[in-house]
Amino acid sequence: MFEALSPLAADPILGLSAAYREDTNPDKIDLGVGVYKDESGTTPIMAAVKKAEQLRLESETTKTYQSPAGDPEFDEAIAGLLLGDAAADYRSATVQAPGGTGGLRVAAGLVQRSNPAATVWLSQPTWANHRPVFAGAGLAVQEYPYYSADAAGVDFDAMTTALRQLSSDDVVVLHGCCHNPTGADLTEAQWQVVAGIAVERGFVPLVDIAYQGFARGLDEDAFSVRCLARQVPELIAVSSCSKNFGLYRERTGAVCLISRDRQREDVALQHLLNVARSTYSMPPAHGAAIVSTILHDQALRQLWEEELTSMRDRMNACRNLLADRLAQQGVGAAFDHIRAQRGMFSYLGVSVEQVARLREEYSIYMVNSGRINIAGVNQQNLEYLADALAAVSR
Ligand code: LMR
Repeated sequence: MFEALSPLAADPILGLSAAYREDTNPDKIDLGVGVYKDESGTTPIMAAVKKAEQLRLESETTKTYQSPAGDPEFDEAIAGLLLGDAAADYRSATVQAPGGTGGLRVAAGLVQRSNPAATVWLSQPTWANHRPVFAGAGLAVQEYPYYSADAAGVDFDAMTTALRQLSSDDVVVLHGCCHNPTGADLTEAQWQVVAGIAVERGFVPLVDIAYQGFARGLDEDAFSVRCLARQVPELIAVSSCSKNFGLYRERTGAVCLISRDRQREDVALQHLLNVARSTYSMPPAHGAAIVSTILHDQALRQLWEEELTSMRDRMNACRNLLADRLAQQGVGAAFDHIRAQRGMFSYLGVSVEQVARLREEYSIYMVNSGRINIAGVNQQNLEYLADALAAVSR
């Protein structure tokens, strides 16, 4: 049976880590996978997570099964992070999922069951795994314009023109904050416009919010979800704790559904959980228990928020340092846009050929689109990186 399979190319994002590991150049720089790194280039476990893990170790009494909805206390805490104080006002249900990707996959399964003819619309460009996730659930996938390379920012006119053509057979995937890969987010006024178009045209927004707290702040970054929740009759939001809690390998995420009325909400939730049951049965417990412990403990929550703030501040500082250094190299105009980008990624505006030169001649690893993980920049590698970028740009 397996002879029928052809070999696959390496994953466009995860494959970079393996190539980087094999590179023997001592100056090599890994700007590939979206994983936070501190100034020393390591991905530490957050102090709040370590403390919560210790508490969990002492208080855990059983390893018996959970339900497909996961830990109810986690679910309620994530609903609060996403929807704020108004969480209880909505006809909403939030359930745990195995990471953001797992959440997207069950959300895709729910869309497929609700309307097998639905088309899922992705921003152009988007996260490299979005298409495989939605197409893998049997859904038609199309793209709407989002980013203009010429303007080095969101092409809002093109985006809204495309959204105005859609109907209730469409699901639009929107990045709640820290657009991946461009780092170019909608303004609050633009979110209001998108919400208005969704109401008018009847499409369902599916907000992928994997970086809450990395752009402006926890509440500010949830503006997208909250603005849509206030206006549209149906909404799906998928969140991840991989980045803001640094729980990457613990696969901790959630799906939040908002429906027109209680009865439809209950039925949609039954189907979502049924998709989960037939896919992975139930999500892993450990990461969610850590998140729940942190969010229900005032001191731990404060510590976590402080750590998150310093991560965000570091990434913003890295952007400016890199842009400053590139300006000193005489190529400032080509890269000044990175100052305004938000979150973990910078979309440099370099070509695939330049990306290949950076990898082959300088051992600098980034996604082919020219996306870099800005947290991979530090005082040690800043000059080497900027000089290499300047050299391939001249
Ligand atoms: C990324 O975009 O680098 C991260 O979301 C990691 C991944 O799974 O691709």
